[in-house]
This record gives sequence, structure tokens and C-alpha cells, in this order.
Amino acid sequence: MTQSAIYSRVIGTGSYLPARRVTNQQLADELAARGIETSDEWIVARTGIQARHFAAPDQTSSDMAVEAARRALDMAGLSADQIDLIMVATSTPDFVFPSTACLVQSKLGITNGCAAFDIQAVCSGFAYAMATADNFIRSGAYRNVLVIGAETFSRILDFNDRTTCVLFGDGAGAVVLQASSEPGILSSALHADGSHSNILCVPGNVNAGAVQGEAFLYMDGQAVFKLAVKVLEKVAHEALEKAGLEAEAIDWLIPHQANLRIMTSTARKLDAEAKMVVTVDQHGNTSAASIPLALDVAVRDGRIKAGHNVMIEGVGGGFTWGAVLFRM
Ligand SMILES: CC(C)(COP(=O)(O)OP(=O)(O)OC[C@H]1O[C@@H](n2cnc3c(N)ncnc32)[C@H](O)[C@@H]1OP(=O)(O)O)[C@@H](O)C(=O)NCCC(=O)NCCS
Repeated sequence: MTQSAIYSRVIGTGSYLPARRVTNQQLADELAARGIETSDEWIVARTGIQARHFAAPDQTSSDMAVEAARRALDMAGLSADQIDLIMVATSTPDFVFPSTACLVQSKLGITNGCAAFDIQAVCSGFAYAMATADNFIRSGAYRNVLVIGAETFSRILDFNDRTTCVLFGDGAGAVVLQASSEPGILSSALHADGSHSNILCVPGNVNAGAVQGEAFLYMDGQAVFKLAVKVLEKVAHEALEKAGLEAEAIDWLIPHQANLRIMTSTARKLDAEAKMVVTVDQHGNTSAASIPLALDVAVRDGRIKAGHNVMIEGVGGGFTWGAVLFRM
């Protein structure tokens, strides 16, 4: 019964990667044709990335979100019409509006009038969305919530800027959360510091029929790196403390898949290097999609099992960061 539900449980996961896989060497060759120099060695050494997927020209974030959602619903054993709320974490929505979540609702054929909205917290978006969904469920407002992270970052990359275009990829991941008397999400912690908004941004908007400002991603890589390492450690401990658990209780750590060096640094501080799920090597940084993509990979390959404690943690533009600790 919804009234007695106090926890939100993950009952299904799903993900989708667009068909076009581009290795570092292929990307380096494409960039060389534009006179931009990079190499597989540089990208692997600085980031751990070996390949990423890019959406087809006519493929949007909502298209990929729908594929991931279908797989998550299938695992959950729910029909789309049983969903009470759809949240899509994305910084690369199909349109300025309507929200990508509304487009997903329509493409899934949902006619029950469920609530649908997007969450904008860049690479922390999925952690923000999970925490938000948890609060809706624990308040008794909704029973079945579809939480999606979906991105087409390839559309906002400047392929003349080698410091950013080698880092990102496209994809989507989804979970179905359901109200339950068993845990469930144990704790969450979300933060932002808008004073750092200029170190990672797409500083443009639509004005009078054109883009005013910049339509490409800008990043001060070193500033982001330093801040990310600092806040991720802190927020992981905050989530553990709220749940009354020690770091040893974590069975699987799923950090935002941005950069293997940042991920390893945080994992080391939690003594959880061996428990870290890594997909950045094959996916690149897919922003809000990276955590649910990695989660789905580790659930489907059998690493993450029922009863395991999973810590997800994200950091991104805004600057935003957050962590969610949950039991599968
Ligand atoms: C982006 C990042 C990989 C760059 O690594 P770095 O060690 O800081 O490298 P620097 O920016 O100091 O650049 C070092 C050199 O490599 C060069 N370089 C940058 N990108 C390159 C590329 N793709 N290929 C080859 N060389 C490159 C630079 O021009 C610079 O050359 P110079 O010394 O001749 O000036 C790193 O800063 C990083 O990972 N930052 C965090 C990014 C992130 O995770 N963002 C998402 C958060 S959500």
C-alpha cells in the first residue's frame, strides 16, 4: 500500500547506446583531417577513455531515453501505463520545451496523464533525479517512478577543440523506482555552488531566432578536476553518515564516469577501488546518462545482486554534486 511505503526500491534498470562506436584512433583520424592533433595514447593516459558512442544525426535524447526506459520497464515487469512520474535528467534536451520527459511519455504511449519533467544538473543530474524521485515516493505521492539520464553531448561539442571533444559520448540509462516497505534508497545528499558556473558551461541561449552566446561546451579541465575530487569525497561520506554506515558497507561504487583518474582518486579514499564499476573506458563521459548506464551494465552482467549496497555519486556543471546510497 502506498500509505505504508517508506522506501524507494530499484526494481528495473535499462540502458541504450547508439550504434556508432568511435574509438580514440578513429576520432584522432577524423580530427587529423581537420588539422587537430590528438592520439589514443594521450586520451587513454589522461582520461581512461578508449571509445565512445555518437548518436545518429536524426537520433535525439528522447529516442535513446525511450529505448533505455523500455528495457528498465521490461526488467521491472511493469507496463508503461503503470508509471506515475517520469523524470529525465538531461542537459541536451530535444527542444527548449516541451521537456524531454513529456516526449518520452508520448513515445512510450503512456496515456494515464502521469507527471513528467526534466532535471537539469548536468553530470550530477541522475543523482539529483534519484534523490527527487525518492522524496516523491517516500511522501506517498507516487508509487512507480521512471528515472532516466539521457544525453546527446556530441551536439554541443566543438570538434575543433581537442581539450573537450575527445571526452564525451552519447547514450541513455534508466531505472524504475517503486515504493516498498524494504530498503531501498538509504540516503542522499545534493549540493551546488553556482559561483563556479563558468568553469563548465554552454554559455548560450535562444534569442530572437538565433543562438546568443556560445552553443558549444566550454570547460576549464584543471579547475573541474580539482573541484570534482574534493567534493566527491565529501559527499560520499555525507551520504554514508546519513545512512549510519561506514565505507566498508559499500558493495559497489558507481561514480559519474567522467575521467578514470578522478574516479580512482575518490574510490581510493573510500578504500573501494576494487568495488568501482568502470564504463568510462567504453562510453566516454555521457553526463547524466553515465551512472544509469554503468549501473545497468553491472546489474546485467551479474556483479550487482539483490541486497548489495550501491553508492552512486556525480559531479558536474553548475557546479553541482551529489550522492545516493541504495540497497538493491
Ligand atoms: C581535460 C583533462 C583530461 C586535461 O588533462 P590535463 O592533464 O589537465 O591537461 P592540460 O589541459 O594541462 O593540457 C596538457 C597538454 O595537453 C594538450 N592537450 C589537451 N587536449 C589534448 C588532446 N585531446 N590531445 C593531445 N593533447 C591535448 C594541451 O594542449 C596541453 O599542451 P601544452 O602543454 O603544450 O599546452 C583534465 O583536465 C581533466 O580530466 N579534467 C576534468 C575533466 C572532466 O572530468 N570533466 C567533466 C566533469 S563532469
